[in-house]
Amino acid sequence: MLILGIETSCDETSAAVVCDGRAVRSNVVTSQIALHERYGGVVPEIAARAHIEAIDHIIGRALATAGIAYGDVDAVAVTDGPGLVGSLLVGVTAAKTIAMTLNVPLVAVDHLHAHAVSAALGAESPWPAVSLVVSGGHTSLYHVRDFLDVQLIGQTVDDAAGEAFDKVAAILELGFPGGPAVERLARQGDPRAIRFPRAWLDEAHFNFSYSGLKTAVLYHVHGTGRKYGSTAHLRPEERADIAASFQAALIEPLVVKSVAAAHACGVRNLTLGGGVASNAALRAALARACAEAGLTLHATPTEYCTDNAAMIAALGYHKLTAGQLADLWLEPRAGLARARR
Ligand code: KG4
Ligand code: ZN
Repeated sequence: MLILGIETSCDETSAAVVCDGRAVRSNVVTSQIALHERYGGVVPEIAARAHIEAIDHIIGRALATAGIAYGDVDAVAVTDGPGLVGSLLVGVTAAKTIAMTLNVPLVAVDHLHAHAVSAALGAESPWPAVSLVVSGGHTSLYHVRDFLDVQLIGQTVDDAAGEAFDKVAAILELGFPGGPAVERLARQGDPRAIRFPRAWLDEAHFNFSYSGLKTAVLYHVHGTGRKYGSTAHLRPEERADIAASFQAALIEPLVVKSVAAAHACGVRNLTLGGGVASNAALRAALARACAEAGLTLHATPTEYCTDNAAMIAALGYHKLTAGQLADLWLEPRAGLARARR
């Protein structure tokens, strides 16, 4: 069964064709980074307009790369939230139009749910598992019993991990998006150079906190109480040590809490997804901890970590076969659904 997936929740316009929820036939992603870079973050109006301009072309490329025509599509799956409402609206409208024109089922997919089960793309199903989702907007742990049986067991109480990467990149004047830039700089630094705080919160729960870490980096660079400013006073080695030490302080609670959650849920598998999951230091630290704890790590392939439509089409297949269909009244949801809070 061939599912056309569409993802436009933030600043990536993506379309994909996935066969039977697992085999990716195409996954076309265009990033709008160049449009948002000078503002230091995603501008919702600009994002929505760019999606409108790109969507038709991107869907056409996804079909062509998969070697199929519109008539071969069995169902359309689309991200309906959470995300920027103007951006979501473009994908949802395109999906509804295609589903209606082709007279095929329409499936609504939750963006975070898709990240949580993305490790199964092109692989054997790793369930039951604990799934760590680390993205720009979310840092969450789920107990995943099956594709459609996903329970939130912990999340950030303030900033998300990706947000912390982006803010520290801004402090260090590394540009946007910050994650890859901080990771590159961190490779040249010493992760033990500065002891930034780790937020453990209540050890019995699997929640995270990253706003204190971001502030600690800010104060380290500019002194207590200061705001963002020029970092010309930092020597290159200092700058690299800050990046490496920040990254280590961010990763440690993710690793420790994920392993503890796997034990608490009684599962042997840990999965990892979301944009920050493309970070090699995080992948290596989790792999080491899993090996020590006797757990198997299933890290989502890096091409499916940052936002993409393949994960939407894949989960769409499972919802379709379970009869969980949307209709043409589907509307985008900017926030999290009540049950997932
Ligand atoms: O999942 P994603 O593409 O979008 C959301 O759903 O939020 O995640 C984007 C986030 C950004 O904050 C970006 O800085 C971060 O993922 N990111 C990384 C890396 N690549 C992307 N963070 C750390 N290391 C990376 N290599
Ligand atoms: Zn995402």
